[in-house]
Amino acid sequence: MSDRYAVFGNPIAHSKSPRIHAEFARQTGQDLVYEAILAPLDGFAAALAAFRAGGGRGANVTVPFKEQAHALATRRTPRAEAAGAVNTLSFEDDAILGDNTDGAGLVRDLTRNLGLSLAGKRILLMGAGGAARGVLLPLLEQGPAALCIANRTPDKAVALAAHFRTAGPVEGGGYEALAGRRFELVVNATAASLAGELPPLPAELFAPGALAYDMMYGRDTPFLAYARERGARTADGLGMLVEQAAEAFCLWRGVRPETGPVIAQLRGE
Ligand code: ATR
Repeated sequence: MSDRYAVFGNPIAHSKSPRIHAEFARQTGQDLVYEAILAPLDGFAAALAAFRAGGGRGANVTVPFKEQAHALATRRTPRAEAAGAVNTLSFEDDAILGDNTDGAGLVRDLTRNLGLSLAGKRILLMGAGGAARGVLLPLLEQGPAALCIANRTPDKAVALAAHFRTAGPVEGGGYEALAGRRFELVVNATAASLAGELPPLPAELFAPGALAYDMMYGRDTPFLAYARERGARTADGLGMLVEQAAEAFCLWRGVRPETGPVIAQLRGE
């Protein structure tokens, strides 16, 4: 029987993860099946336990269960601990390993697929919720000159920066504090794109050759339009999605799939 994996979320119907992992399995010759499971909002732990009891080997976890997955893991990687959230679970004999591959996926998309070296660069991270927190440590590990967190509620950005201050040159505040500053990389980790909104950005923000990255994928966003109008290079979060999946696949199976063809395939649809 094939090894079983799944992604848990609510909603989950539109998840691309089953297709991504099926393609990885085909490519690497791994014998596994990967399905999408809709867990009830109050029933994630039970759904996960049932899957594990039925022979599940590991799981991805998405909105809104990543914090619960963190709590359910009996062992966590340092990057999952830093993120305060888990998107990848690996079921071991008497333990559940929790990892978070989101930040590594973002960094890999930025550095390998988009060719942007982050060392010595000025990075702006917009948002101070779970999505922002999940990528902070891997971004800081790249050695940027500065990582500025801007948030609509400035106190949350200040608190998040304080939490990570031993990991690198990170500062937090509101959007008004960005006036006159320039960044080589601007990452949108807010939920604004979901609502078709643009965070309150100043008129100028991008250093020459800057990259604007929206973690959301599948549609043009007001942030990417704002960036294009100002001459920045733009990217959506599709590459991050595929790269975080590849990190999870690698953790489970010990082989790293090729992501380029999968990104191209999804992009073409
Ligand atoms: P997630 O897990 O996706 O990060 P979250 O924890 O609810 O979700 O965080 C959402 C983030 O998007 C927050 O930083 C939020 O700002 P506030 O902390 O001020 O609420 C930000 N956000 C949501 N809508 C926004 C908007 N229209 N403009 C700017 N920021 C927005």
